[in-house]
Amino acid sequence: MSILSVRSLTKSYGGVQALHDVSFEVAAGEFLALIGPNGAGKSTCFNIINGQLRPDSGTVSINGRDITGRSPRRIARLGVGRTFQIAAVFGSMTVLENVQMAMIGAARQVFAVHRLARELHRERALACLAQVGMESHAERPAAALAYGDVKRLELAIALAGGPSLLLMDEPTAGMGTGERGAMIALVKALTVEHKLAVLFTEHSMDVVFAHADRIVVLARGRVIANGTVEEVRADPQVRTAYLGTAAEGMR
Ligand SMILES: Nc1ncnc2c1ncn2[C@@H]1O[C@H](COP(=O)(O)OP(=O)(O)OP(=O)(O)O)[C@@H](O)[C@H]1O
Ligand SMILES: [Mg+2]
Repeated sequence: MSILSVRSLTKSYGGVQALHDVSFEVAAGEFLALIGPNGAGKSTCFNIINGQLRPDSGTVSINGRDITGRSPRRIARLGVGRTFQIAAVFGSMTVLENVQMAMIGAARQVFAVHRLARELHRERALACLAQVGMESHAERPAAALAYGDVKRLELAIALAGGPSLLLMDEPTAGMGTGERGAMIALVKALTVEHKLAVLFTEHSMDVVFAHADRIVVLARGRVIANGTVEEVRADPQVRTAYLGTAAEGMR
């Protein structure tokens, strides 16, 4: 069964139709890229799946359960982790505290007794940071991190709740080419290790083609292709949609 099932999603912002009858599925263990030119509707799709936005029509199901319109907190508790296009961490807290906070939230504990909280989930949080190669940064304030390290911390935070589905809206935004490939390879390895289902967006076609199990292509709010790397790479509609934007990456 699919972990995530998106059915006929439609969403308009005033006169702008951001999504039109969008349907796709993500299976357990699948590393699925949702791609498309700027403004195609990718972030809108992520925001609906994780509960930040309500669709005008259509449904989102997690493990066969309709979760359309539920709050982001409730959706997170159903095993959905996410990272954002614009990184969201607490700058004044340390890297370790950011992960501990996420674990405290997932366990529905209260971050009130500061001395106690400091030790809460410490070992697990350190292990989580080690998974993304950030354990040596544990005691630094998150605000002092380089941008690529912030994105790695965000990944650790998303993994902290032990998700079965991970949503990553441009996990490599702001990274250089080499760092992009390494980040996606890391997420892919974690996907296999934890048998996660992952839906991610990435603007570098080379990185997508190198790592994705399957690709869904959005253009102007519609799904124009859904298939393997080979199928999508050869699709004339996809090439047309990317002409003038990322066409050089599709050769
Ligand atoms: N809050 C909003 N109000 C009005 N229009 C919006 C809003 N958010 C997005 N849009 C519009 O909806 C369309 C889809 O936007 P969305 O951010 O989902 O695209 P995207 O594929 O994530 O693009 P990008 O690759 O640039 O991140 C665009 O035309 C965008 O301008
Ligand atoms: Mg976006």
